[in-house]
Amino acid sequence: TPPSPPGPSNDTSVRLVNDAAHPYVPPRNGDMRGPCPGLNTLASHGYLPHNGIVTPTQIINAVQDGFGMDNSLAIQLTYSTMLVDGNPLTNLMSIGGKSPLTGPDPPKPAIVGGVDTHAVLEGDASMTRGDFFFGDNHSFNQTLFNELVAFSNRFGGGNYNLTVATEYRFYRIQQSIAENPTFSFISPRILTAYGEAAFTFIFFVDGRKADGQLSMEAALGFFRDGRMPDDFHRADGSKTSNLVDNSVDAIFAAHPVQPGGNNGTVNSYTLDPNSAGINDTCKGYTDFVNITVRSLYPNPQGALRNNLNKNLDLFFLHVAGQCSQVFPYGQ
Ligand code: HEM
Ligand code: MG
Repeated sequence: TPPSPPGPSNDTSVRLVNDAAHPYVPPRNGDMRGPCPGLNTLASHGYLPHNGIVTPTQIINAVQDGFGMDNSLAIQLTYSTMLVDGNPLTNLMSIGGKSPLTGPDPPKPAIVGGVDTHAVLEGDASMTRGDFFFGDNHSFNQTLFNELVAFSNRFGGGNYNLTVATEYRFYRIQQSIAENPTFSFISPRILTAYGEAAFTFIFFVDGRKADGQLSMEAALGFFRDGRMPDDFHRADGSKTSNLVDNSVDAIFAAHPVQPGGNNGTVNSYTLDPNSAGINDTCKGYTDFVNITVRSLYPNPQGALRNNLNKNLDLFFLHVAGQCSQVFPYGQ
C-alpha cells in the first residue's frame, strides 16, 4: 500500500534553495519534463529525481522544501495528479510523458500517461504551453512566452504580477475560444488555470523580495529551462497558502469565466452547467473522484483497488474539514 504523505514542514523559513546540494543540471536524454515548470525545476535541481519519475512523497517534500508550498495544497495537487496520471500499482508517476520506468500498467482504460496527459488535469489555455489540439500541450512555447512578455510590459512595468496574471489569464482563454474548436475549460482545469497564474508571482519570486513582481529573465529560466536564478531563496512557507487563495480569488474576480467550452467550432463557448465552478469545492472533489477517476478505473480489483482506495483517502485529506468523503470502490 502507498505510504502516508509527509506532514507540514518544520522549517518554513525563507532560505537559499539553489544551493550547493541542488545545482542546476539540465535534463539528459530520456529524462522526463512536462507542462509544470514547478516540477520541472525541482527535478533539474535534484529536489526530485533527475529522471522525472517520482513518488507522491517525493513531490510533497520537494514542493515544500524547494518552494515553500503548504502541505494541504501539496497533497491536493499531488494525489489528484497521481490518481489520474500515475501508476497506482508501483506508486510512480512521470512528470512528463508516458514512461516504462513507472512499471507495468494496470488494465485499460487506465492511461498512466504522466503529467502530460490531456484533459484529466493538464488543460487548455496554459500560459506558456499550447493547447492539445495544436499538437503539443507540454513543451515550452516561445511564441506564447513572447505574449506573456508583451503583457508584462503593458500591465506590469516589465514584470509578471497580479495585474498581468488577471489580464493574461483572460487573454489566453479568449484566444483559445477564438482558435481552438475543442477548447475545454471545465473542472478541474478551471481551478488549476487560475491557480497557476497565481503560483507564478508567489513561488517564482525570491522569498527575500516577496513583492509579487517576477522579472522576465527569472520567468524564462523557470518556464523554459526549469532553472532557478542564482542565489534563489524560496518563499516563506507560512504565508503561501493564504497568498494563493487570495490571489486566485482576485484573478478570477477580475474576469470571472464560468466553466464551459467550444462545441466543435471556434467562437462557440457554451457554459457547462454540470461542471463545478471554481468555488464549488465539494462538487469539484466529488466529481473528480466519481467521474474522472472512475472513468479510468471502472472496476478495480485486488491490490489495484486497495492502492486506489488509499490514494483516494489521501486525496480527501485536503477537503476533510468541509466535504463528505465518497467511496467509489467501497470502504
Ligand atoms: C502547470 C501539476 C506544483 C507551477 C501544471 C500542470 C500540471 C501541474 C498538471 C499543467 C496544467 C496546464 O497548464 O495545462 C503540478 C503538481 C504539483 C505542482 C502535481 C505538485 C504539487 C507546482 C509548483 C509550482 C507550479 C510548486 C510553482 C513553483 C505551475 C505553473 C503552471 C503549472 C506556473 C502553468 C504553466 C503554464 O501555464 O504555462 N502543474 N504542479 N506547480 N504549474 Fe504545476
Ligand atoms: Mg495546458
